[in-house]
Amino acid sequence: MKRRTLLKKTALAAASPLALGMFHSRRASAAAVRNKDVYTDGKFDVEKGKDAIMALCERLGYHIFPELRDGLWVSDYGTGQFDKLGLAAYSFANQSEGGAFMLMDLFLMPGQMLPEHWHLEGDHGITKNEGWAIRWGKSYVGGVGENNMADFPQIKIPKCHCNGTTTTHHVVEAKPGSFTPLAKVGTRHWQFAGPEGAILSEVANLHTGSAVRHSDKAVNDQFLGG
Ligand SMILES: [Fe+2]
Repeated sequence: MKRRTLLKKTALAAASPLALGMFHSRRASAAAVRNKDVYTDGKFDVEKGKDAIMALCERLGYHIFPELRDGLWVSDYGTGQFDKLGLAAYSFANQSEGGAFMLMDLFLMPGQMLPEHWHLEGDHGITKNEGWAIRWGKSYVGGVGENNMADFPQIKIPKCHCNGTTTTHHVVEAKPGSFTPLAKVGTRHWQFAGPEGAILSEVANLHTGSAVRHSDKAVNDQFLGG
């Protein structure tokens, strides 16, 4: 094939309605997860939860590597309302030897809340410090500071979380390209995903699961008991 013909075909393919349509439909299909799709006989179905997360990754363009699905931790924190509150995470690293560091990616469905929590001193005397780089979508990061919740009426704290409340009320609107650090080590924090959902990279010094505490008692009991 002549070079000019090849260039013409390539340009046509790139600008074809099919190619453009695929891009737009990927964005337009960012629907919130429906509980009926992730519960079996009233119980949260982890595999169905993973289906929803994999679809989110596909939709937002996250690179799906072979180990992703098996390595995903997915939970509704026992609330029975994964559409409103839950989290999926994939841990890449969490080590203390030779210098402590942690990296995990977090996946939030559209309009899904990550429950308010804080970190006590954990393994090796380390209290988790962390921050979030938004890769895709948008997340509202809640924590200590001046109450600016009135500026974000789109944030709906679900009833299943402290009867629709949080104890911290300062929100940072985190978008791709931004990095939002925890306001202060040891303080409470939470997140709420935007209408497309959110995929974030969380970096930290060290994560100790048993040192996590949640503001909602039922969520806390489920997390520590699970
Ligand atoms: Fe945290």
